[in-house]
Amino acid sequence: LGRRGIWHDEVDSTNTLASEWARRGAPNGFLVAAGRQRGGRGRRGRVWFSPPEGLWFSLVLTRPLPLRRAPELTLLASVAVRRAIARVAEAAPDIKWPNDLLMKGRKVCGVLAEIRAEGELVEHAVVGIGINANIRHDAFPEELRDRATSILAMTGRQMPLALLCAEVCNQFDPLYRGLAETGEGFARVMDEWSDACVTLGQWVRVETPRGVVEGRALAVDESGALHMDGADGQRIVLHTGEVLFSH
Ligand code: BTN
Repeated sequence: LGRRGIWHDEVDSTNTLASEWARRGAPNGFLVAAGRQRGGRGRRGRVWFSPPEGLWFSLVLTRPLPLRRAPELTLLASVAVRRAIARVAEAAPDIKWPNDLLMKGRKVCGVLAEIRAEGELVEHAVVGIGINANIRHDAFPEELRDRATSILAMTGRQMPLALLCAEVCNQFDPLYRGLAETGEGFARVMDEWSDACVTLGQWVRVETPRGVVEGRALAVDESGALHMDGADGQRIVLHTGEVLFSH
């Protein structure tokens, strides 16, 4: 992954551009990276702050797996980025469900996977990764400063962006190949994901499309869904949401 690709100084969104490349037949693993994004996109239609000094890129994956297994891509990407940051910055971020990477409780990375499916087949997926690598903390807009941070702000280390990008691809590669083989390999990745996940075991309040729910976070399954024990003992399964607080 990432052996072929293109780098732009500035784009609207690397995910949008990578989807266009995918539709025009870009090969598997094609990388689209940018120095900055004018219209970086986050989950749930949010804007993703993408100034220079961050690492903004997307990978095209062609016919990666059946549609029902698509959530695995995001889980693998989080693990790959976590490993890459651990190696390059020598500090391993935590994972917050569904797919944020945090350092000391603040977000350093987000993953946005977008899928184009034909029936039960994924035609292509675009996995977009945004890492707040060398952004100074005071460069974040005020409303983000409590929630966001960068590797530089947390470790004092300047990240070589090309190296970090290459490391993410190198970590993602074997995990991605492992998807074709079933079973154990993925279970090990899920264990790694769960061990790094700060949400599990906590009492959490989660904003979902159907309202706010509260309970104890128990586990995440291979579809990325969060299993919780609700306040009055009922089991809750959430496929998407935003953890508002945990303790
Ligand atoms: C999130 O909301 O946590 C996901 C953020 C994903 C941001 C990355 S930056 C590269 C790629 N291009 C985009 O427009 N978004 C993703």
